[in-house]
Amino acid sequence: MAQSKISLTRYLVEQQRADGLIPGQLRLLLEVVARACKSISQAVNKGALGGVLGTAESENVQGEIQKKLDIIANEVLIEANEWGGHLAAMASEEMDSIYVVPNRYPQGEYLLLFDPLDGSSNIDVNVSIGTIFSVLKKPDDTPGVQEGDFLQAGSKQVAAGYCIYGPQTTLVLTVGAGVAMFTLDREQGSFMLTQEDIQIPADTKEFAVNMSNMRHWDAPVKRYIDECLAGKEGPRGKDFNMRWIASMVADVHRILMRGGVFMYPWDKREPEKAGKLRLMYEANPMSWLVEQAGGAATNGRQRIMDLQPSKLHERVAVVLGSKNEVERLTGYHDPL
Ligand code: AHG
Ligand code: MN
Ligand code: MN
Ligand code: MN
Repeated sequence: MAQSKISLTRYLVEQQRADGLIPGQLRLLLEVVARACKSISQAVNKGALGGVLGTAESENVQGEIQKKLDIIANEVLIEANEWGGHLAAMASEEMDSIYVVPNRYPQGEYLLLFDPLDGSSNIDVNVSIGTIFSVLKKPDDTPGVQEGDFLQAGSKQVAAGYCIYGPQTTLVLTVGAGVAMFTLDREQGSFMLTQEDIQIPADTKEFAVNMSNMRHWDAPVKRYIDECLAGKEGPRGKDFNMRWIASMVADVHRILMRGGVFMYPWDKREPEKAGKLRLMYEANPMSWLVEQAGGAATNGRQRIMDLQPSKLHERVAVVLGSKNEVERLTGYHDPL
C-alpha cells in the first residue's frame, strides 16, 4: 500500500517522464475523466436530496429504460471532455451513435468510450455503482471521424479504467504499465494513489455469476458452476463461495482486490451468441485491467481483447478474473 501522498496528477506526470506511455493529450484526457467522475460521485452521494434517483422517461439504444443518473453521468462526461482539444469523438452506452466534438472546439487525436453509469439497477437501492472508460487513438489515415474509427480491438486501447462509487470513491486505471488505484480524498478534492501494481491471484474459491439464468446457459458454463457447487466432495476438491453485486464495476473491483472469477455468459434466449455486456465500453476496458493485473479475460473461447468489433454497441459473453479459473472454463468450451 502506497503511504506517500501521490496525487493522480503527479502519478500521471511521473509516468509520462518515466516511460512516455502518457503523452500530454492523454494525460489531460485522464485528468478530465477523473474530474468528471468526481462530479458524478457528488451527484451519486446526494441521492434523493439531489433529486437524482429514479427513472427518466426514455429508453437507450440497448432497449433499457434509462435512469436519471445514466443521463446525468453521460452529460457530465461529455461536457467535461468536449472542449479540451484532446478528443475527436466519444461513444457511450447511453447514445445511439458517436458524439463528434463540435467544430467550435479543436479536434484531438483520441476517442473516448464510456459506460457512464454501470450498475443502474443498484442506483436506487444505494449499492455500489461506477463509470467505466476506454481510450483509443483515432486512426490517422482517415479525415474527420466516423463510427468505423471506434471499431478497434481491445488490444488497441491506450488507457482504460473505472471509477467506483461505493463506501469510497476509487479510480482504477491502466495505461499498459500495470494497474494503479486512487482513492478520492474529499477534503483535498483529489484522487490519491492508494495501491500500485495490483495483482489478481491465479487461483480462487470465489465466483460471480447471476445464477437465476442457469437454466439458459450452455453446457460448459453449467458444468463449471456445477463443479464449483459440488464443493469439497466434487471434482474441484474445495468449497466455493459466490458473490453477485449486479454492478460489473463492483464485481470486477472485488476480483482485482482479492481474486475470483466473474462471468456473464451467453444464454440461450439471446440471438447471435452475444452476451449481455457490451464489448467496447464494458468488456474491453475491464479485460485490459484484469490482464494487466495478471488475470485473464475470454468470451468462453477467445481472448476478449482480440475480438474485432463489428458495431459500436456489440455485446459479448464475458469470463474474467483469476487466470487458472478463466483458463479452466475456457477449456471446457469446444475450440473454434
Ligand atoms: P448497466 O447498468 O451499465 O446497463 O450495466 C449492467 C450490467 C453489469 O453492470 C452487471 O454485471 C449486469 O448488468 C447485471 O445484470 P443482471 O441484472 O442480469 O444480474
Ligand atoms: Mn444500462
Ligand atoms: Mn454497465
Ligand atoms: Mn450503464
